Amino acid sequence: MPAWLKNAVFYEIYPQSFNDTNKDGIGDIQGIIDKLDYVKSLGCNALWINPIYDSPFKDAGYDVRDYKKVAPRYGTNEDLVRLFEEAHKKEIKVLLDLVPGHTSEEHEWFKKSCEYEPNEYYNRYIWTNGAFCGIGGHPYIGGEAERDGCYMLNFFKCQPALNYGVLNITEPWQLPVDHPDVLATREALKDIMRFWLDKGCDGFRVDMADSLVKEDDEVKSATGAIWTDIRGMMDKDYPDAALVSEWCNPQCALKYGFHADFYLDHHGNGLNVLFRDNETEGPDNSYFNKNCDEDPKRFLADYLPRYEGSKDYGYISFITCNHDTPRLTKTMDESELKIAYSFIFTMPGVPFLYYGDEIGMKYLDYVKTKEGGFQRTGSRSPMQWEKNAANYGFSGADADKLYIPVDKDENAPCVDTAEENPDSLIHTVRNIIAIRKEYEDLQADGSFSVAYAKEGKRPFIYKRGDLLVAVNPGLKEETVDRSELENADFIKGNLIYGIGSADIDDQRIVLGPQSFAIWE
Ligand code: NOJ
Repeated sequence: MPAWLKNAVFYEIYPQSFNDTNKDGIGDIQGIIDKLDYVKSLGCNALWINPIYDSPFKDAGYDVRDYKKVAPRYGTNEDLVRLFEEAHKKEIKVLLDLVPGHTSEEHEWFKKSCEYEPNEYYNRYIWTNGAFCGIGGHPYIGGEAERDGCYMLNFFKCQPALNYGVLNITEPWQLPVDHPDVLATREALKDIMRFWLDKGCDGFRVDMADSLVKEDDEVKSATGAIWTDIRGMMDKDYPDAALVSEWCNPQCALKYGFHADFYLDHHGNGLNVLFRDNETEGPDNSYFNKNCDEDPKRFLADYLPRYEGSKDYGYISFITCNHDTPRLTKTMDESELKIAYSFIFTMPGVPFLYYGDEIGMKYLDYVKTKEGGFQRTGSRSPMQWEKNAANYGFSGADADKLYIPVDKDENAPCVDTAEENPDSLIHTVRNIIAIRKEYEDLQADGSFSVAYAKEGKRPFIYKRGDLLVAVNPGLKEETVDRSELENADFIKGNLIYGIGSADIDDQRIVLGPQSFAIWE
């Protein structure tokens, strides 16, 4: 386990939209380098950058054409190495995005794989043995290649699935997981990883990490075996590099070798009921909605088994949002976000802050889809740096040349005005991350247990090591009797962080409306 993960706080950068220095309307690597001090000022000490490789950008770069080449719109490979170096000088780690499950249909491997004559890449993708032989249970394309076969897709039409083999074979064209050609795919993946690790990157966020072996068993053991093998390579040759999975099943992902696994917004899961239980008709029942009566029990029912089942192996990663998910501002105001973020940054594991969430950037539901973003595009708009600059300081390009238009609201939050306002969200983000940095109990490995969570009751109180953390997301004052707390006798009640009014004495805890407190 890389030691630096213990107190890592990540900042996710969607490079298209972060900072454009060459005025083409799209962010670039130099733009990221220029903002490293800003990232550091938030307290973040690690970056995850969405794919920056050469791509036709039909899925915003998750359709990779050349894994070993930076897309010219972002700069060059040398620029990326410079980013690693500059970040390291500031003690910031950099994770790239690894897309192991599919390539672009324009990748050279795929073009070779489409050829009539068998060649080295013939089995690099999953092909049937006839243009009229489809694939049950998976999306596929037929009739596009000279080769007589249909190929499997992993996501969009532009993303053919790489071939890591099939566990439960039922068709003659399926290859077992130990076939030399599918082992070659795995080696090619390792080669890509080595290429960037050797250049100074600090690890990878792994896209659709559970998608490698097809017809895998319920716990994805064949896919897991590949990651265990890759973790072996990392432990041996890159022991300080980190692997973070997009899997959302830490009990599996961490046992197979990932250091951290994202807690993603999946309908009805623990993360979803905290923040986004508002996707269907009817009231918003998200726990952090100030206007509802929800208790934290539904969250805990989902989270605790994940946490207990994985804490000995690695970390769960809470996120403020990501490039696939509507920003929380879609339904939450700043007062709610302050409480929600304080919660996120005091949970165990390795948290991720999505660019712009620190100023409460809006989810822009009106922007036109860009590069396969569809409704995700609303969370990918240009970073708002300066209130009075053109395009909010994101880019010197004409507004109609921007990758995605900027927020058209005249009250759009910006970094400079947020900095000036002592009550703004950015200061809450800084303060809570600073407290996390100061107290080891709040970091990745600090123990976690529930001190108070009751049906129909708003407060949620939990222990992190020797600290007691109390949340009241609602608009009413709440009182909790000390006798109702589990194992919290030791708390003296020295407040180290607070939002709103929160008091503790020998008898009771009184949590004012929308309050958050951490006591020693
Ligand atoms: C998950 C990524 O986060 C998403 O943006 C992408 O479209 C799919 N995987 C396919 O790679």
